[in-house]
Amino acid sequence: MRDTITEARRIVAGLDLDHIIGLLSGKGLWYSQDAPGVPSIMLTDGPHGIRKQLDTADTLELSKSVPATCFPTAAALGSTWDPQLLEEVGAALGRECRAEDVHVLLGPGLNIKRHGAGGRTFEYFSEDPYVSGHLAAALVRGIQSQGVGASVKHYLANNQEHRRMTIDTIVDERTLREIYLTGFEIAVRESSPWTVMSSYNLVNGEHVGESRTLMTDILRDEFGFDGLAMTDWGATYDRPAAVHAGLDLEMPGSNGAWDERVRAALDAGTLSRADLDEAAARVVDLALRTTTSLPDAATVDHAAHHRLARQAAAAGSVLLTNDGILPLAAAGTIAVIGAFAETPRYQGAGSSLVTPTQIDAFLPAFREAVGDSAEVTYAPGYDARTGATTPALLDEAREAASGATSVVLLVGLPAALESEGFDRTTLRLGEGHEALIAAVTEANPRTVVVLLNGGALVTPWADKPAAILEAYLGGQAGGSAIADVLLGVSEPGGRLAESFPNAQEDVAADRNFPGGLTQVEYREGLYVGYRFHDSADVPARFPFGHGLSYTSFGYSSLSVRKSRNGYTVTITVTNTGDRAGSDVVQVYVRDLESSVYRPYQELRAFAKVHLAPGASQQVTLRLDRRAFAVWDVASHSWAVEAGEFEVLVGASSRDIRARKIIRVASDDVVTPAPGPSAFVATDEEFAAMLGHEVPTARPQLPFTLDSTLGDLRVSFLGRRVVAMVNKRIEKQLGLADASPDDAQAGMFATLVEELPIRGLTMMSGGEFSLATAQRLVTALNLTTPKAWRRR
Ligand code: BGC
Repeated sequence: MRDTITEARRIVAGLDLDHIIGLLSGKGLWYSQDAPGVPSIMLTDGPHGIRKQLDTADTLELSKSVPATCFPTAAALGSTWDPQLLEEVGAALGRECRAEDVHVLLGPGLNIKRHGAGGRTFEYFSEDPYVSGHLAAALVRGIQSQGVGASVKHYLANNQEHRRMTIDTIVDERTLREIYLTGFEIAVRESSPWTVMSSYNLVNGEHVGESRTLMTDILRDEFGFDGLAMTDWGATYDRPAAVHAGLDLEMPGSNGAWDERVRAALDAGTLSRADLDEAAARVVDLALRTTTSLPDAATVDHAAHHRLARQAAAAGSVLLTNDGILPLAAAGTIAVIGAFAETPRYQGAGSSLVTPTQIDAFLPAFREAVGDSAEVTYAPGYDARTGATTPALLDEAREAASGATSVVLLVGLPAALESEGFDRTTLRLGEGHEALIAAVTEANPRTVVVLLNGGALVTPWADKPAAILEAYLGGQAGGSAIADVLLGVSEPGGRLAESFPNAQEDVAADRNFPGGLTQVEYREGLYVGYRFHDSADVPARFPFGHGLSYTSFGYSSLSVRKSRNGYTVTITVTNTGDRAGSDVVQVYVRDLESSVYRPYQELRAFAKVHLAPGASQQVTLRLDRRAFAVWDVASHSWAVEAGEFEVLVGASSRDIRARKIIRVASDDVVTPAPGPSAFVATDEEFAAMLGHEVPTARPQLPFTLDSTLGDLRVSFLGRRVVAMVNKRIEKQLGLADASPDDAQAGMFATLVEELPIRGLTMMSGGEFSLATAQRLVTALNLTTPKAWRRR
């Protein structure tokens, strides 16, 4: 047992009840409470750089923070498939935290990309839990190697922004286990994170943070999590119930708003003193862990971190197509088109916003790299903030393109289209960018399109350019990294960790995304991403795992041998080209005779290999028992069904290079379980998957503490409340003069619309008391008879 938890329990035993209860809520927005013998510590965002707000910033001002290295977002880091690199990035993040006295970095986020339109997919790694879990674990190990806590978030089934504070995710047990819990399980087992953050939403009718099953039975008892569980910011619904469930710390602090109720729950016996003390001990434990016996913080070498950010951005950029134009010859005239070349899109909007230490815009970086070898011209093509183009901008771009030897065209998603807080409405690029691609590729087919965006795209124009490089949101060194990749100084090291479909309707979740006003139903079950495409034989435009290289790789000599705890897969990978490069060996497992519904194949292991030209390497990967298992709903446990399985090794889910059939022995009993016969469950099928009737969505009326401010608009009083809150936020944020690339206005507009009434207490630090919130609910219900009747 760790010394700190023993010491923490000893400290808590000596504290009075006021202090113990006090420890369970934060101090302001970013600190934990102190108590005798317990220091207050700082917990702040995260995840791809520190966002430590300046003392002068108002509580909600996201963009006023100390400069910190802005590493590539998780979308880009996820595409590296490189745990070693992520560990290095994590260590750099940890060093910066130490230097800034940040004790816990709020990240990584590892929610599954259920639908590419999720507004926050840039902050998540993959549509696959195995990739998400292992990459998150690597980042956590790196951060914590510096004595700084990480926080894996947002636990659980928080896969959209729409109504994220109140939405009820309806998902069957097997899908929850196999898709949504697995990443957290891997991260917990492989990296022992010091904290986990619970999400705002409900799962199957219960707030995640109040579910003892999720917070204690599964997270702690099964997965072995031994750290502190905290709420997402403002995700407090019923504090005593949450403490009972195993959710230790409420953030931000609510100035004692709940203390009386916590005491009452103790008196009533609905909360045990042992649970309360243990929650406080975990707060103390974290404070001790992050403040004692640490070596002095080293000075941060920001230049080195910038270089690491540049390396990671290149390693995460995915070459989607290439007719041979790349690497680009620095010769003749190269037209750079796209305002993002000057005003880069390099990180997502919302709580993860970092004030970078420096920014490499593409245009100057490219010009410097090309030097005198070529003439570089430039045309903006669109407005960087909105993405809109005009006939004049299009003409200018056409002209620049037609006279050039080759064109580099930067397009993507402006911040206003993609942010924490709201989802995208389409997987397409904006009209302006699509029009520009059409105009430029027509004027000059030797065009390389570079994409700067955080989530999957539908690309009906993909056959037009000579090459497409998906650079994602590559962090502060993204511009120079793109120049490196285009010119062949670096290789495009990324492989897609998410599928890019041909059409939005090809996403099995699409019909139930983002759900209704109070409920979202995961009727696609296990058919997320490639699990759908491969099972339904509906090809993705760019499949999961795909990414081209500047060299080529051969796979040979596959062997799959029984080992003590599963199977050992070996395969020889040879760099058959004439440039150094890396490839991601992907191992999928397919159950050939399953009696439960299963996706066609599932990723169960991967390895990144770096090879010199002509070099070969034997890669060894392990498949444990779990690689063959399903979650058996009848026994509530993992079970392996004996029979034939195929092990498939490839360079993407659709580029399988070698396969072998093995016979797996097992005594486990697997109970037949039906799934969605046509990939989206009917009412009857969904009820069978859930084991009960599909719940009726919560009605919006009468008003409750969970009604959102947007819901209140049907009432006169409600409209006045919303107007007041809006006014206050606008004033606090100075939104009227927000910078042009700032998506805060959109994010906060949605935040206000979707904030539950009880959130006013949490967000006001208790100033708007729970009793006032309850009185408001009563008044609203009394004064809206007409609207009520209309519903
Ligand atoms: C986000 C978290 C973040 C927290 C603090 C929340 O709205 O969901 O990811 O860590 O705010 O900024």
